[in-house]
Amino acid sequence: MLLHIPAILTPEQVVQCRAVLEKADWIDGRATAGYRSAEVKDNQQLAEGDPVGRQIGEIIVAALNRSALFMMAALPRKLVPPLFNRYQGGQNYGGHVDGAIYPIYGTPGRLRTDLSATLFLTPPEEYDGGELVVTDTYGGHRVKLPAGDMILYPGSSLHHVQPVTRGARIASFMWIESMVRDDGERTILFDLDRSIQELNATVPGNADVLRLTGIYHNLLRRWANT
Ligand code: NI
Repeated sequence: MLLHIPAILTPEQVVQCRAVLEKADWIDGRATAGYRSAEVKDNQQLAEGDPVGRQIGEIIVAALNRSALFMMAALPRKLVPPLFNRYQGGQNYGGHVDGAIYPIYGTPGRLRTDLSATLFLTPPEEYDGGELVVTDTYGGHRVKLPAGDMILYPGSSLHHVQPVTRGARIASFMWIESMVRDDGERTILFDLDRSIQELNATVPGNADVLRLTGIYHNLLRRWANT
């Protein structure tokens, strides 16, 4: 499932994050790439543990925790602290697949990258190119979102970032381990949850809605690892 989650950050938060990131210490993005990805990766990133990144990362994680849509879709179990990248002057990231296991910075723990997320921080009119292209069985999906919006996609996807030919594109990205590791099962739960909420609003107190809610929880109990 490829899901666009609008307005994770408010316009004021985007302005605040961008102001701090403008002055941050950007380093070569190959520092966090595996040996295969390093050959196709050309961007800049903040170092893991960079104090600016940690500060903004906390704002983003708090916003994710408040997002009902993110919670319903990701059913998160663990997140890595958000990371940040910048592309400018033709920089791009060629086709790659994210590593399956990622260490959680500052802890001895690690997570399985069930979901990848990109949170756009630069308004699309400020740069050319820079589309995130996620390929699934239906072909390539080009994603370029308003600042503050997020795209959530399966960690197993082949994806790339098109060259940025004007301006600079700054984004935050992160990986999420879900309580439900399988994308197909997670998608069923998400669709069911959304339908139940719609039905609850249209026919409140309906006995069948109650039964569907029971089915949702029984499936979640069957598939989830906490
Ligand atoms: Ni990637």
